[in-house]
Amino acid sequence: MDDRSFAVAQAMILETKKYWTTKLYPALKEDYQHRASLSDAPPQTVNDVRGLIGGTTDYQVYAWLERHLQRFKYSGRYGLAPYHRERRDNFLAPLTGMTDNENLDVDPDFDQPKYYRAVDIHQHPGGVWSADTAGFEYERGARSTTPMMGGKHRDLHQRFTDLVAEGGTPSRVLDMGCGFGKSTQPFYESFADARIDAIDLSAPCVTLGAYTARQGQAKNTRFRQMSACETDYDDSEFDLVTSTMLIHELPPPQIEQMFDESLRLLQSGGRMVHLDFHELPDVFARFIHYGHGRRNNEPFMEPWAEMDVASVLKEKGFKDVTVKSFAEAEGVDAVNSPVWRFPWTVISAVKP
Ligand SMILES: C[S@@+](CC[C@H](N)C(=O)[O-])C[C@H]1O[C@@H](n2cnc3c(N)ncnc32)[C@H](O)[C@@H]1O
Repeated sequence: MDDRSFAVAQAMILETKKYWTTKLYPALKEDYQHRASLSDAPPQTVNDVRGLIGGTTDYQVYAWLERHLQRFKYSGRYGLAPYHRERRDNFLAPLTGMTDNENLDVDPDFDQPKYYRAVDIHQHPGGVWSADTAGFEYERGARSTTPMMGGKHRDLHQRFTDLVAEGGTPSRVLDMGCGFGKSTQPFYESFADARIDAIDLSAPCVTLGAYTARQGQAKNTRFRQMSACETDYDDSEFDLVTSTMLIHELPPPQIEQMFDESLRLLQSGGRMVHLDFHELPDVFARFIHYGHGRRNNEPFMEPWAEMDVASVLKEKGFKDVTVKSFAEAEGVDAVNSPVWRFPWTVISAVKP
């Protein structure tokens, strides 16, 4: 495949995703509201919503496009995986010698957890970890994760970092599940005097994160291959533990382990602030979100959304627990968007 065909195909996928987001989703919601208004009892559960619209042509087309646009994005003739793997040597050339650098720590014998190996997350062939080009594939794919943001995909992460900064300037930061460093970059740029560690299970992702940080002359940040559920850091080492889009990828027992680990790692008065998908305003949004999780190969989206996270954190001993919706961009209605958006939520707590 040539570069131009790849770029055109990916652009078409993104434009179709925008149509899906801004036209199909509102039409589906309107149809649902109409049907709900005619039903004897208002829908109470996800199954009630499925009963009303699950069999309609509109919903079938909506669901098919969501599943298969994502599949086309990663696989097939113009997919991200074959594109990068065919050009493997070119993509990997700049990373030569990276493993000798001080800002990178990867383990060739790293034992990946079973939940992580079992699913091709996001329909990414081999997940975000098994191909050595996976970091580049994920970076390219992430440019259209939030289709309404027109490629300004750092905006969300910067706004999240700004929100964290409102609570004070941290000096020792851990970014858990950092991927290729998209969530870490605004932290190391905003908190230049802080020491920052970014960890992820994926070696190709942390390698790309470390490379990007070096290119940006960031001297305060280290990328390491490590699980957020079990780290090698000392007790009370950090005053800020954060993550972006990590939690929904963890099975519930691992979510609890990650919270326990965060509590152990934080100093007294230290903060844990996570950005993820959680708060759903109504049962229609819940139905759409659970379907999104299934169609995107994200099996833990649903149990995570069902978790009473505020109670879990209070029981673990955190204080000042808040769980609040977060707007994807300036001026966007975080709770009742007229177009499809992720249910962004900030989960924040303090170690007593
Ligand atoms: C959706 S990505 C988010 C990446 C980044 N935080 C961002 O906002 O772009 C989730 C990341 O979590 C990582 N991950 C999944 N389970 C993990 C675990 N137990 N420990 C550390 N990272 C994990 C995945 O490898 C993936 O890179």
